[in-house]
Amino acid sequence: MRSIISEGSAKLKIPKTKKISKEMRVFYNPAMSLNRDISVLLLNSIDKTDLQIADPLAATGVRSIRFLKELNKNKIKRICINDYDKSAVSLIKENLELNKIKYDQNNNIIIQNLDANIFLLHSMGLDYIDIDPFGTPNLFLDAACKRLSRDGILAVTATDTSALCGTFPKACMRKYWAMPRRDSLMHETGLRILIRKVQLIAAQFSRAFIPIFSYSKEHYMRIFLKNYKGKNKSDETLKSHGYFNNAGPMWLGNLWDKHLTSRIYVNALKNKFFKNNKELTRFLKIIRDESKIDAVGFYDLSDICRKNKLKHLQKKEFVISKIRKLGYQASETHFKGEGIRSDMPLAKLINLMKNK
Ligand SMILES: C[S@@+](CC[C@H](N)C(=O)[O-])C[C@H]1O[C@@H](n2cnc3c(N)ncnc32)[C@H](O)[C@@H]1O
Repeated sequence: MRSIISEGSAKLKIPKTKKISKEMRVFYNPAMSLNRDISVLLLNSIDKTDLQIADPLAATGVRSIRFLKELNKNKIKRICINDYDKSAVSLIKENLELNKIKYDQNNNIIIQNLDANIFLLHSMGLDYIDIDPFGTPNLFLDAACKRLSRDGILAVTATDTSALCGTFPKACMRKYWAMPRRDSLMHETGLRILIRKVQLIAAQFSRAFIPIFSYSKEHYMRIFLKNYKGKNKSDETLKSHGYFNNAGPMWLGNLWDKHLTSRIYVNALKNKFFKNNKELTRFLKIIRDESKIDAVGFYDLSDICRKNKLKHLQKKEFVISKIRKLGYQASETHFKGEGIRSDMPLAKLINLMKNK
């Protein structure tokens, strides 16, 4: 049984199901629409055009169909849509037809039914690869890092947040070669651990993968890394790996390109589909603001109150404005509701929170 839904400007046939799970005949998760919104916005916000795009784990094809309908005219040179599941590939074809998109070599819209690694290793010169698996992306990192072209972008989703955020530290050590820590900073430290893992795989091929946009949301983490070739740049990247908050090693450099975060936010406000999506625009605004602050980690105001026996938890907005008045930078963080990202030293912040 199928139902027809719409997401962004795409219409989709999806299997009718009571519960979203890996066992679905062809996987479709409406909770990931924001993940796909941000991918569309990011590709429309970079300067590059004529992209060769790969969607190796495509499921219903929703992501590629949205790219074909929502990316600016000159963005796509070629798009390859792949899944190893035969029923997924049939559904991808039906969904392309439903959206009146012709697929063949002449249109540069290519559908394949291969294992994702074989698909990637047989592809050349990919400018954008989107690794969006169930659980860990590990299985696909080697081939994706090898096949991404110079200045290309690798997008990676990880849904195994229980390993990255420290519920299962042994799993994190085994899969991501780092010690996580389960506390209020766990989403940021987990995201940084994931970034380092991808960077280490890329470094084997003398490539430097630098984050341009990263976030953590609900049950998943998402990173976009730009490929800079060259052993010197790759060596430099490795120098930014280290420990923070008794966890790591992890990436201690920037999580975002701050010009890009601004462009993405502005483009969301200009877009007819996105501008009324309050969840999306608020999320992007917070990320834009926090990307301007050079600080690893953030302050959790409830933690500070508890540890320092402060009786009154002041409002976050009030604390942010007091920090700014003293000449430091401060913003909300998308990682946690009670969090503040700031370059103010902790001792000063505690003092500031003691005074009304
Ligand atoms: C989480 S779903 C992808 C969701 C999709 N990217 C989206 O935005 O809706 C993962 C998909 O990867 C496919 N898959 C898993 N392992 C694979 C492999 N080794 N090669 C190719 N496809 C694979 C599954 O059949 C499934 O359709």
